[in-house]
Amino acid sequence: TVHPAALLSLPKAELHLHIEGTLEPELILELAARNGITLPHPTLEVLREQYEFSDLQSFLDLYYANMAVLITEADFADMTRAYLARARDSGVRHAEIMFDPQAHAARGIELSTAVNGIAAALASSEAEFGISTVLIAAFLRDETEESALEVLEALLAMRAPITGIGLDSAEVGHPPSKFIRLYKRAAEAGLRLTAHAGEEGPPSYVEDALNLLGVERIDHGIRAVEDRILVKRLVREQVPLTVCPLSNVRLRAVDTLAAHPLPQMISAGLNVCINSDDPAYFGGYVGANFDAMAAEFAWDAATAELLAGNSIRSSFAPDARKDALL
Ligand code: HPA
Ligand code: ZN
Repeated sequence: TVHPAALLSLPKAELHLHIEGTLEPELILELAARNGITLPHPTLEVLREQYEFSDLQSFLDLYYANMAVLITEADFADMTRAYLARARDSGVRHAEIMFDPQAHAARGIELSTAVNGIAAALASSEAEFGISTVLIAAFLRDETEESALEVLEALLAMRAPITGIGLDSAEVGHPPSKFIRLYKRAAEAGLRLTAHAGEEGPPSYVEDALNLLGVERIDHGIRAVEDRILVKRLVREQVPLTVCPLSNVRLRAVDTLAAHPLPQMISAGLNVCINSDDPAYFGGYVGANFDAMAAEFAWDAATAELLAGNSIRSSFAPDARKDALL
């Protein structure tokens, strides 16, 4: 089995990361105090007791509630810097960071507050942490397409430094077909395209994200293994799947780490990589996800190198940056 220190030093890209999901309980309480906000779970002990999830929605409820502490640009910048420091410690050299603009707008926070705060931290990331970055605006699939289009237009009008768009939040009942116009508009604006699919939703959502939205990448995609024909296509086209093992266990998308389909996905020749999703909620950053899988499946160095290489090759980074990291 590959040594944990060797795993950490492998250069990696993190492609599936929600910045609001990096808010650690300690920072939540610190920001609540700084902003004079009373939380429903006011102590570290009580807050920590909330982190047992039964499915995606039970997590989303806490994730959205905890965002209430993010008020100023400095709050968004502090959260982002804390993530970059921890990502560096996991060997992450390139990070593609999603944020949920609609979730902040719904709380009365100006879009520019979230964008400028996150962007301020990203601006010094290469110099401070050795991590190149890409910002992705993720849209809430349980909201309307009109709402997403409005927010996308506002981001474009303010020249927000976004490279792409994503689609997240409650999956089942909110298929890709709901967002055809959103993805068409984003493509016209020159944005890169990704979407969550096949986390809790069926394999047909993965297929529809490719066929109807034109996505270049699928976030999660684990349920694709249920459809043999779809797997063949994903292998043939080498569609990147940004898999998040600890997230899948904590949200009960899989029963146990031992039952995770990732080894089967690797054997099938799928283009998979390892990501942390919402590391403050799911038990660890990219390094912890690599460690847990390497230990569970007794991975050799070649397997770890393949997955780290996939993450870099599947990123939206410029070719020169990819070459420097590979
Ligand atoms: N799935 C869907 N939506 C999300 C997630 C997730 O894991 N994290 C934040 N929003
Ligand atoms: Zn996610």
